[in-house]
Amino acid sequence: MENFKKSVIYQIYPKSFCDSNGDGIGDIRGIIQKLDYIKSLGVDYIWSTPFFASPMNDNGYDVEDYRKIHPAFGTMEDTEELIAEAGKRGMGIMMDMVFNHTSTRHEWFQKALSGEKDYMDYYIFKEGTPREPPTNWQSKFGGSAWEYVPSLQKWYLHLFDVTQADLNWENPRVREELKDIIRFWKEKGVKGFRFDVVNLISKPEIFEDDAQGDGRRFYSDGPRVHEYLKELTADTGIGHMVTVGEMSSTSLEHCIRYSNPKEKELSMCFNFHHLKVDYKDGEKWELSKPDYRKLKELFETWQCEMEQGNGWNALFWCNHDQPRIVSRLGDDKKYWKASAKMLAACIHMLRGTPYIYQGEELGMTNPGYGNIHSYRDVESINYFHILLKKGKSEEEALKILGQRSRDNGRTPMQWDFGAYAGFSTHEPWITIPENYSYLNAKAEEEDMDSILHYYRKLVALRKQYEVIQEGSVEFLYREQPEIFAYRRRFKGQELLVLNNFTESQVDLQEPFALTGYRHLLGNYPRQEKMEIKSLRPYESLIFLKG
Ligand code: GLC
Ligand code: CA
Repeated sequence: MENFKKSVIYQIYPKSFCDSNGDGIGDIRGIIQKLDYIKSLGVDYIWSTPFFASPMNDNGYDVEDYRKIHPAFGTMEDTEELIAEAGKRGMGIMMDMVFNHTSTRHEWFQKALSGEKDYMDYYIFKEGTPREPPTNWQSKFGGSAWEYVPSLQKWYLHLFDVTQADLNWENPRVREELKDIIRFWKEKGVKGFRFDVVNLISKPEIFEDDAQGDGRRFYSDGPRVHEYLKELTADTGIGHMVTVGEMSSTSLEHCIRYSNPKEKELSMCFNFHHLKVDYKDGEKWELSKPDYRKLKELFETWQCEMEQGNGWNALFWCNHDQPRIVSRLGDDKKYWKASAKMLAACIHMLRGTPYIYQGEELGMTNPGYGNIHSYRDVESINYFHILLKKGKSEEEALKILGQRSRDNGRTPMQWDFGAYAGFSTHEPWITIPENYSYLNAKAEEEDMDSILHYYRKLVALRKQYEVIQEGSVEFLYREQPEIFAYRRRFKGQELLVLNNFTESQVDLQEPFALTGYRHLLGNYPRQEKMEIKSLRPYESLIFLKG
């Protein structure tokens, strides 16, 4: 069995994890200081979002030099020490490779701008008049996906910020440069890679207007993407390492191909369909209540079909681009603890590799900022203005940001009760939510019933039982959208997981008979031996048979 199938991965957003030198910005030495804490969760790998040299217009996803460390985060020596210290504790470091685009400050783009033909061919430049971009495609951060360069009389493509220019993967020289970067980090001893928006790297042969949408249907899972990934993996010898691709607006068919071991592309995929069930008609910047039926159907389809196709899912609720899950699908007030534990159990017992995003293991919440000046994220600030232009009031726009902004997941890690939550000795780059007075790692370490201890138990269960690592999946109570229940089976063992996604007690359509099952874990005390008739608010139960 592939090693990653029993692994759990911890994600760090370094800017907000731990500040070792009191400048209000988290850094690599801060991560080193907290390695024992991370190890105590039982995880196997640490993926950090980028800390390379960067102008930081998109907090490091705009890379200026893939072989240099941004001074605010530390030095190359710090990075080598991080890799070594994590290794001593039995954990591997995974690097975040942003290969769909570079910063416009990257040497390659600068050379392109000065008209060097070889380097212009590293990017996607198109002829055109200054009045009309080559296509009507939209940037994912709002506005046109094209920028005009008067000195070249050409437009360049940027699917994200205007300072993030898309690379031209058609050019074999670009592919060789990127492979060299992988080799560089492999030699430094990293144990895996996360590939940023990697299903967007292959653009279509013909660039045309999208009459139906923002252009994504032309370049998501594009024509040569599988070929490129196979080549990258083979030529850098990373096939035995853990690799995960972030897939934007992808399909099940493609994810099976990306992650089926026979294809030799990647170990697993992130997809985001389950995190759009509270979008209004697919629109992120319009609020709507979560559709639990859809949520469950999506999980069922992806779990069962990936199993059929021998693909592998990355399991996650949170990352640095998502609001906090307990504020989103749970209840961050009355049922804070119960709902955070239920949400954790819900994905940790599924087939795939679970990811824990810093602070999720504490049940960290959205900060509830009441002012646009509290926001730092380029996407949030752009959309705030777009929403105002569309006629929303400032109050409405702030309410939407309060639920949808990526900054919701980027507030500093809440370590203790002290000033700045123990994250720093200096005012942090982004405001800390007030609830750190009770919601912090120190408090949860001492409380044996905490969310933190629950995460540790869930991780330990995965290590202990093959049925969690490898078992088949079957969904139960399919007609009851509020009940998220499934059974896993492996070599005569059975795991049963029952979750209630609502704040009300819910009766099961049919009581569940417990004969032969023993209780492994739950977020309420339970004595029943015979059958389960109903679930309490946000209740989660795990049973094992055999
Ligand atoms: C991914 C990253 C996100 C970044 C974008 C562009 O979605 O997770 O933070 O803004 O790619 O690199
Ligand atoms: Ca610092």
